[in-house]
Amino acid sequence: MITNRTYAVEPWSVRETALSLDLLAQSESVFALSNGHVGWRGNLDEGEPHGLPGSYLNGVHELHPLPYAEAGYGNPESGQTVINVTNGKLLRLLVDDEPFDLRYGRLHSHERVLDLRRGVLERSCEWTSPAGTTIRVRSTRLVSLTQRAIAAVEYRIEPVDSRTRVVIQSELVANESLPDPDGDPRAAKALQSPLEPEEHAARGLRLRLVHCTRRSGLRVAVAADHVVDGPEHTTTAAESDADVARLTITSVLAPGQSLRVQKTVAHGWSGARSRPAMSDQVEAALAAAAHGGWEGLVDEQRAYLDDFWARADVEVHGDEEIQQAVRFALFHVLQAGARAEQRALPAKGLTGSGYDGHAFWDTEMFVLPVLTYTEPTAVAEALRWRQDTLPAARDRAAQLGLEGAAFPWRTIDGSEGSAYWPAGTAAFHVGADIAHAVVRYTAATGDTGFERDTGLELLVETARLWRSLGHHDHHGVFHIDGVTGPDEYSAVVDDNTYTNLMARANLLAAADVCERHPDRAELLGVDDEEAAAWRDAAESVHIPYDEEAGVHEQHSGFTRHQRWDFAGTRADQYPLLLHFPYFDLYRKQVVKQADLVLAMYTCGRWFDDTCDEEQLARNFAYYEPLTVRDSSLSACCQAVVAAQTGHLRLAYDYAAEAALMDLADLEHNTRDGLHIASLAGTWMALVAGFGGTRREGESLSFAPRLPEKFSRLAFRLQFRGRCVRVEVAADKATYTLLDGEPLTIRHHGVPVPLDDATPVTLAVPEPKRRPTPEQPPHRVPNSSR
Ligand code: BGC
Repeated sequence: MITNRTYAVEPWSVRETALSLDLLAQSESVFALSNGHVGWRGNLDEGEPHGLPGSYLNGVHELHPLPYAEAGYGNPESGQTVINVTNGKLLRLLVDDEPFDLRYGRLHSHERVLDLRRGVLERSCEWTSPAGTTIRVRSTRLVSLTQRAIAAVEYRIEPVDSRTRVVIQSELVANESLPDPDGDPRAAKALQSPLEPEEHAARGLRLRLVHCTRRSGLRVAVAADHVVDGPEHTTTAAESDADVARLTITSVLAPGQSLRVQKTVAHGWSGARSRPAMSDQVEAALAAAAHGGWEGLVDEQRAYLDDFWARADVEVHGDEEIQQAVRFALFHVLQAGARAEQRALPAKGLTGSGYDGHAFWDTEMFVLPVLTYTEPTAVAEALRWRQDTLPAARDRAAQLGLEGAAFPWRTIDGSEGSAYWPAGTAAFHVGADIAHAVVRYTAATGDTGFERDTGLELLVETARLWRSLGHHDHHGVFHIDGVTGPDEYSAVVDDNTYTNLMARANLLAAADVCERHPDRAELLGVDDEEAAAWRDAAESVHIPYDEEAGVHEQHSGFTRHQRWDFAGTRADQYPLLLHFPYFDLYRKQVVKQADLVLAMYTCGRWFDDTCDEEQLARNFAYYEPLTVRDSSLSACCQAVVAAQTGHLRLAYDYAAEAALMDLADLEHNTRDGLHIASLAGTWMALVAGFGGTRREGESLSFAPRLPEKFSRLAFRLQFRGRCVRVEVAADKATYTLLDGEPLTIRHHGVPVPLDDATPVTLAVPEPKRRPTPEQPPHRVPNSSR
């Protein structure tokens, strides 16, 4: 198992018992708090030392040019980068006449705990200043899941053995200086000083700063209010300047006395609202938060999370590390989506600036599956954001000479944020991924209002894209040529199986939804002929198959390519993209991330209808030795199909890799932000992998099987107004309808009616034993490496 653990293994918390300055950036990501709208990295209260200061507002970005050595038609020319907005976390502290800075003096103890049930980050430490004054500092921080604009900190200081003069400077700071990125293309372009000052104010215990981004023209307002509780002679003074607003709190504390500051910070941004309107907005948010005070915020947070865990918890018995990891994963996935409300869900959530804060297909294929069955309202919101960005996607399709909508490979504001590169520009599958998420959400919730108002338009515009991107050959077979599938080590290929099968489902779903809502379809100009053309294309889509190898091809001609020289590739040459030229990766059999294997999961129905279990096992065995997992999106997909094909130990190793990606910093880049898709993939590996959960139309099927390490796995799913609990042991599975109307599910293919709350227990059949497929050298799953 993984040895380099920094955090104690506990079921409901992530505890760091000593501060390691080398790991500061990493722990800032792990301890990040967010509600999907506001994100605060787990920076120390006093701001320094830091790895990467980070305060984010979902959607706030700056534009920058995308220069090309050689011009080309249709190349995106403007990029977007998330920016570090005004920092409201800061509480600097002066102890007698020395700054509380952990790089100096003596740190006796330092503990931070991310409490997954209360949704707070707690910190406590004891420190002696270089001059010999010893103090205790405790803080509790939250980003409110119930009051979207609000984050808050309770900060408490007490002297240990002598009368101590303390000064707390509670600040709002804009345009903090940021460390230079380290050259990894996946890290963010740090835009220095992106905010133009517009207004600053400080009065009583209140502070406010309003800024505007230079090129993207987004107005950002942040305000803070305080409750100060200290000995009688405690004084306060407020001041502000263009980029700093400060409340200075001064006191002299005798041993046994303490100074407590509760700081509430309100955030808002807009591309349209005026400066006074934004100031009023954040002041109003502060007033609302003051209503219940600090205790109110803490209580609401707990109640929100109690409700979430009652619907979403996953219990793992026999493996404490995975138990902690899956709850940590669910917590961060919830944080990424809970209150995003018609904004993107970035690949790093709001935990860091990696990938420039862009959202990818990660949202629809990794994050939304979890939220669909645990927090479905967040899914509808995320997909409404896609709908809001349809004008940009239609423009992009028109620019490319295509019909319908071409959604961006990576974006913040809906326009394409990726400079031309084959793996991104041709990754049209993102449209089908969005369609897939629409179908999954509507089927799992029965939300027909959403289907009519949002789903239909997304399905129609993406179907139009496929129809214009693909063509029928002279035999009538439908091909989609020149696209890139999920595997970024193959690009601009013909008939990528994943893309073709996902497009097929997209085209059929569009035709079906138009039949269900003909009035809406008509408004979009869909007639019978267009819907029939979608069905024709779907039914005749080409799926490449290599007869000799007896496997489905990732794309036409893939299995004919030369194999990558795996034996000649050293361990330190991974990820390959940082050590070998793309052109060479493109022309060899080497797979960055699950592609055909992902199709076997997401389009499992098509495989079930067209081939047998042996075919699935052969496909899996063929792609395993080629798949290097240079993307964190891969392990979870491989876990699901490994479990499906009976390789339970291998599935476990992949599940553990996905689960521990950030808690054990497996890819050494957790500092840039968490891998939200991999965290979501942890749930996927457990629920879809070991739970064998699949949606079948308007019902669910399960084919559970546990790896040896687990003695029991239990999870809950929200499904069409019901709550279903599944509990799996080595030899049996128990299904309980906790809430809602009767439902007939399937257990290993057998229909099982769940009529009421009486648990139904069934035997779990043994899997068929097959030799375990091998991975490329140095690329066995990380948990057993
Ligand atoms: C993967 C993409 C993914 C992106 C963001 C890349 O490494 O290849 O599939 O969307 O990371 O997570």
